[in-house]
Amino acid sequence: EAYVEVDEGEKLPNYEQKKWEETHLHSAQYRFGAKDAKARHAKQEKQYDILLDDEIEFIQALKIPGTKADEAKEEVSEYQQKRMTIEETKKSLPVFPFRESLLEAIAAHQVLIIEGETGSGKTTQIPQYLYEAGFTKEGQKIGCTQPRRVAAMSVSARVAEEMGVKLGNEVGYSIRFEDCTSERTILKYMTDGMLLREFLSEPDLGSYSVMIIDEAHERTLHTDILFGLIKDIARFRSDLKLLISSATLDAEKFSEFFDDAPIFRIPGRRFPVDIYYTKAPEADYIDACVVTVLQIHVTQPLGDVLVFLTGQEEIETCQELLTERTRKLGTKIKELLIVPIYANLPSDMQSKVFEKTPPGARKVVLATNIAETSLTIDNIIYVIDPGFNKQNSYNARTGMESLIVVPVSKASANQRAGRAGRVAAGKCFRLYTAWAYQHELEENSVPEIQRVNLGNVVILLKSLGINDLIHFDFLDPPPHETLVLALEQLYALGALNHMGELTKLGRRMAEFPVDPMMSKMILASEKYKCSNEILTIAAMLSNNSSIFYRPKDKIIHADTARKNFFVPGGDHLTLMNIYKQWADTDFSSQWCYENYIQYRSMKRARDIRDQLEGLLEKVEIEVVSNPGDTENIRKTVTAGYFYHTARLSKGGNYKTVKHNQTVMIHPNSSMFEDLPRWVIYFELVFTTKEFMRNVIEIKNDWLLEVAPHYYKSKELEDSTNKKMPKGKGKALTELVRS
Ligand code: CDP
Ligand code: MG
Repeated sequence: EAYVEVDEGEKLPNYEQKKWEETHLHSAQYRFGAKDAKARHAKQEKQYDILLDDEIEFIQALKIPGTKADEAKEEVSEYQQKRMTIEETKKSLPVFPFRESLLEAIAAHQVLIIEGETGSGKTTQIPQYLYEAGFTKEGQKIGCTQPRRVAAMSVSARVAEEMGVKLGNEVGYSIRFEDCTSERTILKYMTDGMLLREFLSEPDLGSYSVMIIDEAHERTLHTDILFGLIKDIARFRSDLKLLISSATLDAEKFSEFFDDAPIFRIPGRRFPVDIYYTKAPEADYIDACVVTVLQIHVTQPLGDVLVFLTGQEEIETCQELLTERTRKLGTKIKELLIVPIYANLPSDMQSKVFEKTPPGARKVVLATNIAETSLTIDNIIYVIDPGFNKQNSYNARTGMESLIVVPVSKASANQRAGRAGRVAAGKCFRLYTAWAYQHELEENSVPEIQRVNLGNVVILLKSLGINDLIHFDFLDPPPHETLVLALEQLYALGALNHMGELTKLGRRMAEFPVDPMMSKMILASEKYKCSNEILTIAAMLSNNSSIFYRPKDKIIHADTARKNFFVPGGDHLTLMNIYKQWADTDFSSQWCYENYIQYRSMKRARDIRDQLEGLLEKVEIEVVSNPGDTENIRKTVTAGYFYHTARLSKGGNYKTVKHNQTVMIHPNSSMFEDLPRWVIYFELVFTTKEFMRNVIEIKNDWLLEVAPHYYKSKELEDSTNKKMPKGKGKALTELVRS
């Protein structure tokens, strides 16, 4: 009874039933109900008639050969149908009845906090209301920030569609390395990081009439910094309207921060969600996810499923497992559509999650945290929550930063569950025990500003002329030691002088929308005469989706192909090699396909490279090429990344130089079998151990050359290695002494 047989021998986990109610699930039709649908249909028919003749006449007048009136009729009616659905949808959103009162409140107050549950229409509707109310008449724009790139892209696409304009014209988005706006853009969605950068060129945000800081509850580092900056600007720009929009909970805190700004609450609409916990902890939550999806699929009424995973890799694994198992089950089960959504997914694939599920089928959305509050996917009835999340973690003592998978907070878990109750009563399956929920999860997530490296933000604030960071108006201040460490690191990089002021180098570094270490590396390429190569390396490293394509059924071929690209010296040079070979084929997609390289990642790297090249011109550095001199290229990398130095120690382990932390070379690295004595890594990822990803071999004396104020020669002694030949050691020591 407790188990459901899906396939020969396969058992499904057993959920502890907290509460059981037979719920009547409706899918697409739910929102309007049958009666409404009929009325709507009648209305649609009428409207088509009016417009149709015009359209057909128009098409006939154009005398396009081969265009039959019938076809035109069909096309036009399809278009009309779409428009009608859009209008209906807009009116059905919880925010719609409050349109007028919201606009009144905005007119009456300079700063307004808007609180409303996810999916109420805050992000997509409010900018349109403002536009309709004339806020862009004087040639100014309405801005709306998003913590996540995917959200900025997909929401702006949706709004462009609703307004019937081409994305990039009146409605556009701007994310790092990708600007999809034009002179005509009046509704601009952008990542919070991009707005921060806009302060550099337009410190008063003069081209905006309204700025919406959206998804404020996410409390990303950039959003938190924006709070302080924008509060200041609002003081002397009384014509700027400021909206802080948040999903839940934190509204009071925001209000208090913005001098008791009023809160506008959009009443939510939520159906009950039954929550199920596992009886025992799950050893393998990916497997548990797969099994739970299948269990839902065979035992529960139709309705789409949303699964929360921590990143692209997990999503891909889960997708493969699900595809494989459903294929085995064949026609024994109903159709199951599997759609992934994560930050690096190409945008045309992202839109798949919003497509309607065909009748009789079920959709499973495999998503990262993005679907927690930033994106609303309609018709989700079931949520599967393994209870994990990928987070930046930063140790201010050691300066070590890495991405780790951590348990979510209770607030997050509840948001996730809530996604099941938007259109009908739903169910949420938590892949952890009720005890774990009660005792192991924190109430709220720690805001990002308290757990990341602040180097980036410090350099940006300094270039905005904000010198006193200790007294900056933070909603929640970062830990003192994190701030101090950021200042120290920037000093060592040469971006700040001993007074903590921005140097000329620092000013140039701030031009680049990348981490200080990377911008330092790029600028150092001038000295080492290899800017062309460093641009490629920087672009390949900045593109954070995987370059290599590794399908499960061709792993051996893929790995061989990958190893064929290896060159001596390390991964940065290998990346450079891949890019160069690709460029030599005139950027061919066929070449990528044959070599198990992701064409999309390469295209993106090329875009990034072009932009970095433009910025290099701006800071007046010539593009010079010196591909043969790999020593100079590696020295340039060292000039930026000298913090990330590790030295070989016992058993193939490495120790970081300054703090003696144990780290290892990632198995995918070209250096995995070489184990050079001194290495520099690009980043750390924590899975079972701290792994260094993208590693190059260096010589220890380069460190003294590029960072003499940071390293002392004593720290860089090669104790494990070169034993001095007898007799000579003493003489040398004396030489040094004298
Ligand atoms: O911002 P908030 O969470 O309040 O809601 P929203 O993002 O404005 O979403 C309002 C509606 O637009 C939801 O019903 C979404 O499903 C829909 N939407 C969509 O269909 N496609 C998108 N790319 C974004 C939103
Ligand atoms: Mg939103």
